[in-house]
Amino acid sequence: MDTFQAIELRKSTRGYQPEQISEDLLEKVVHAGQIAPIAMGEYDKLHLTVVQNSALLEKMTAAAAQAFNNPSMKPFYGAPTVIIVSSMERGAPYVEYADASCIIENMHVAATDLGLGSVYLLAFLGPVKEDPELVKALNLPEGFTPVAALAVGYPAQQLTEREGARKTVSVNSLK
Ligand SMILES: Cc1cc2nc3c(=O)[nH]c(=O)nc-3n(C[C@H](O)[C@H](O)[C@H](O)COP(=O)(O)O)c2cc1C
Repeated sequence: MDTFQAIELRKSTRGYQPEQISEDLLEKVVHAGQIAPIAMGEYDKLHLTVVQNSALLEKMTAAAAQAFNNPSMKPFYGAPTVIIVSSMERGAPYVEYADASCIIENMHVAATDLGLGSVYLLAFLGPVKEDPELVKALNLPEGFTPVAALAVGYPAQQLTEREGARKTVSVNSLK
């Protein structure tokens, strides 16, 4: 698949097959995240955690469901893999979020290219960060805080091009 095809095909997948993704595909997606652009080239200030432990995914689901007062909330939509991006504190505001977004989008497009479903996730992380036991369970290196995440899995329905108009960001042009 060429780059523009993958960018067009990328979408937020909110339904997954329960089967775990292959190690080969996981490695490719993670690698795409590892080589994303990072402010000041400070690669040592970012960290990725691949969560495939179903008990931990269930605990994070329960924490989010309770925080959002929605017992049926499924923040991962059944995806068997969730990749969490964590960052150390940075010298300027929002840099960790900007870096995390570059990592997530690289992985999102890479997953699409490989025929995997994926979805950018922020909502569940608030409740997770507020639960010391869950943060401990992530086994992060000292000084790192979770910033963003991507759920990944085999999509319940094959990724296909969208029908009709899609939402886009506006543009103005100065010549
Ligand atoms: C910063 C950010 C946070 C997001 N958080 C969530 C989330 O917590 N849960 C979710 O289902 N989708 C989340 N999304 C996905 C957006 O809802 C989705 O990208 C947007 O509606 C466009 O749809 P598309 O990805 O299918 O093109 C997030 C996207 C971004 C960029």
